[in-house]
Amino acid sequence: MWRPAERIKYAAEPGRWPTREEAKQSLLFQPLALGRNGQCRLNERTWVPAMVPWRATEDGIVTPDILDWYRRFAQGRPGAIVVEATGIRDIPSGPLLRIGHDRFLPGLRTLTETVRKASGGYTRLFIQIIDFLSIRRRPKRERYLNEFLRIQPYHIDKINVSQSVPEAKIRAALVDMSDDELIEVLDEREWEALQYGARERVTDTELAHIRDLPRKLPGLFADAAGRAREAGFDGVELHYAHAYTMASFLSSLNTREDGYGGSLEGRVRLPVEVFEAVRDRVGDDYVVGCRMLTEDCLNGGMETDEAAFFASRLAAQGMDFISLSRGGKFEDAKQPKVGWAAYPYTGPSGYECMPSYYSDAKGPFGRNLQPAGQVRAAIRSAGLDTPTVAVGGLHNFEQAERVLADGEGDIAGLARQALADPDWFEKVRSGRGDEVRLCLYTNYCEALDQRHRQVTCELWDRENLQEKGIAMSRDGKRRLVAPRWKK
Ligand SMILES: Cc1cc2nc3c(=O)[nH]c(=O)nc-3n(C[C@H](O)[C@H](O)[C@H](O)COP(=O)(O)O)c2cc1C
Ligand code: SF4
Repeated sequence: MWRPAERIKYAAEPGRWPTREEAKQSLLFQPLALGRNGQCRLNERTWVPAMVPWRATEDGIVTPDILDWYRRFAQGRPGAIVVEATGIRDIPSGPLLRIGHDRFLPGLRTLTETVRKASGGYTRLFIQIIDFLSIRRRPKRERYLNEFLRIQPYHIDKINVSQSVPEAKIRAALVDMSDDELIEVLDEREWEALQYGARERVTDTELAHIRDLPRKLPGLFADAAGRAREAGFDGVELHYAHAYTMASFLSSLNTREDGYGGSLEGRVRLPVEVFEAVRDRVGDDYVVGCRMLTEDCLNGGMETDEAAFFASRLAAQGMDFISLSRGGKFEDAKQPKVGWAAYPYTGPSGYECMPSYYSDAKGPFGRNLQPAGQVRAAIRSAGLDTPTVAVGGLHNFEQAERVLADGEGDIAGLARQALADPDWFEKVRSGRGDEVRLCLYTNYCEALDQRHRQVTCELWDRENLQEKGIAMSRDGKRRLVAPRWKK
């Protein structure tokens, strides 16, 4: 993982925890009505944002381990939990949860029932639905040059041989070149495919399936949202953030010339059309929100004033909540090892998304709060009261309360802190905040995510391994859910 050069070490602070009575009076523990008619009551303004735990089957189906994971969060009874990024297409995606076909419904229904039961009906459950484009693993050099590269006339020109030379000889010549020579022969995308693995972009409109995204995606998102409703989720979160398709439409790197890129209006057009298709499918009485970025955190990427424009536009359209993250892009990701795919949280923009305890003068806690406040203020200036969710390094009560008091968000999202201690909400609510296990922000969990290994937290995954009936990780070394809080 990338880290700022300063390498200043930070530790999460407990701050002053409230008594039970203070918690009851606080902004954080006040209810909030979500949805066009306020039909979805959040019992409090706390939120567990989406976190992929890599526990679905290879076919994307809910497993007992997934049920355990969400049951454990539900036992702490936050205001809402957002289920991990779940694929809307009916295509193999490894152990990522999927919702692209009715066969996924029985598992998802069990999931909603599990959370409802474990929280006693207290916690609302949303599901994040995602589309992503193809990304390949970084190939071995010889394999790429011998099998994947399509030999073009310009390659032949550049290596200065006759066009009639057999292809095998051309490939052999390319393999024999040094990298300095090869970079002169390949074009930019071919060089990237060799160094990082080939990655599609929304601007690859010479490819029919990319050109057709605006025709295809509204229906796919709408079908997925319809299934989410059928499965009993309280709402859907459209994934318009990080490195994935919809965020790439919003990004200033989107230079499509077909009306779906370039200008601000062009970039927001597909996100609006996807929302409209989803709304048509699920109706006005169902919660539809989105997650988007306050900034791409890339040179030349989307900035906060643009995000504020998009958020206001989506809110005006009738989005029921907007959850605000930042960064997490492929464009500045680290070069993966051969055989691995690039991972969008390994560069500076990835750091902004999940900052760790080694940081710069700004520190890892609340880096997204000022921009999130700016986006929320733009929504309010447009005369709209759409709730926003602020996240990023929140771990103690005072911080979360301040976010709400200062207008940086209407809801406080705690991702890694909830993973470190799923009982955070119950402990703070009941005046026992001093028993909270604070996150270290070392990103051990995120490193597991990066390798598509079952995500756990270093603070509890070796604890009480003798406990009867606990599920263990595939490597047999770690427990998969946090031990119960002994009240
Ligand atoms: C293991 C892990 C998996 C994540 N998966 C997702 C995801 O599926 N969708 C998403 O929008 N964000 C995802 N995130 C980002 C978090 O939702 C959150 O924005 C980020 O961790 C910053 O919040 P925090 O400082 O409270 O952890 C993930 C984070 C972690 C640590
Ligand atoms: S592994 Fe646990 S302590 Fe470390 S960053 Fe993740 S949640 Fe926090």
